[in-house]
Amino acid sequence: MDKIRIRGGKSLVGSIPIGGAKNAALPLMAASLLTEGTLRLANIPHLADITTLANLLGTLGVEIALDGHAEGGHQGRVLALTARNISNTTAEYDLVRKMRASILVLGPLVAREGKAKVSLPGGCAIGARPVDLHLKGLEALGAKIELREGYVEALAPGGLKGARFVFPFVSVGATENLMMAATLAKGTTVLSNAAREPEIGDLARCLIAMGAKIEGIDTDTLTIHGGTKLSGTTHSILPDRIELGTFAMAAAATGGDVELIGGRTELIASAATALTQAGVTIEDTPRGVRVRRTNAPLVGVDVMTEPFPGFPTDLQAQMMALLTTAEGASMITETIFENRFMHVPELRRMGANINLHGGSAMVRGVPKLTGAPVMATDLRASVSLVIAGLVAQGETIVNRVYHLDRGYERLEAKLAACGADIERVKEAA
Ligand code: UD1
Repeated sequence: MDKIRIRGGKSLVGSIPIGGAKNAALPLMAASLLTEGTLRLANIPHLADITTLANLLGTLGVEIALDGHAEGGHQGRVLALTARNISNTTAEYDLVRKMRASILVLGPLVAREGKAKVSLPGGCAIGARPVDLHLKGLEALGAKIELREGYVEALAPGGLKGARFVFPFVSVGATENLMMAATLAKGTTVLSNAAREPEIGDLARCLIAMGAKIEGIDTDTLTIHGGTKLSGTTHSILPDRIELGTFAMAAAATGGDVELIGGRTELIASAATALTQAGVTIEDTPRGVRVRRTNAPLVGVDVMTEPFPGFPTDLQAQMMALLTTAEGASMITETIFENRFMHVPELRRMGANINLHGGSAMVRGVPKLTGAPVMATDLRASVSLVIAGLVAQGETIVNRVYHLDRGYERLEAKLAACGADIERVKEAA
């Protein structure tokens, strides 16, 4: 199994290209199920999660072609998906269990075919993560839902019907699933307390280009006038704000000066505010976002994760790694996932002073971290250990690199290009 070896202490200086957003690409790929036409997704990132969903869509009968090459970088790479005939409406356990976002095929499948059977994703490392809101919303649109032998079975033989649905709390995936399903439902659907993450706006814009009628984009109330036949289109995926925030935090943690090409500060506005308070300078440039902290010390800040436009839970671990060496104390509160502090014991092993109190972590800054062998059980926790390794004195080995490959394209190459001493160590399994 591959590992990443880092010898810390180097400031990151240079530029890093930001790829297309994984969390936009996944629902956009699922949207291909809504039309017989070809959906062409430009700026598609080259990531394990994308391959996992492509494999799943392939089992449903979607024809998939990739133009361009991974080695050439993300720009210009296009994924073409054609669901001319859906030959199978069952998403099998073996593919779904690899990635929770596989549940995103449920809404489009039942909307187009009147039936779908999707394995329940089950729990995962960062908490229980049920899919009850996805199911309740589809029931509101008229689907009959049964849970049998680990699978969700959804039936709507006469098609889905538009309805009002109020989310009891904000869910990104459930908003996406229902918005997609509602485009083919007869009549109007109103989704209240919908999530407003930029990836949902990106999906809505693509659906509109496919012929859907959607109002209220980027607000918490989405109105979808359904029932029109959708067609293929070409859509360019928005930049990955989590990759952007991650590299911004890596640059800041190492006292570096990095331009993040293709990024925009508005995508990470809440994180940029927290970084600014911590002593980091962030500014838009004609090509992207420049992040620097050349002489200023880091100072502690309090951060609480919230649905967009709040501080993203997917940047919480990275922010914590940054704050381990800030002056003073920082309180980091996680409100989205109940078990998202798995990086804490590992950061402690590198010398961080962190105490957990329920959903909050008190981080007291230490002058330095020291390298250690570490591992993490999810994507964002893993990359937080990479940031800690870049700052730490000595050598850090990050195990279980497959987590990083799920969400970061050429992570070590992008960091090495800015002067980091980092390499992937290939090992036989
Ligand atoms: C998406 C992102 C993930 C991010 C998360 C929150 C993708 C592919 N993944 O995940 O990276 O961390 O948003 O910004 O876009 N919940 C329920 N019932 C449901 C659905 C969710 O209880 O039916 C709970 C979850 O357990 C969690 C909270 O709601 O506690 C938010 O989850 P949700 O917004 O749905 O996250 P995902 O769409 O899975």
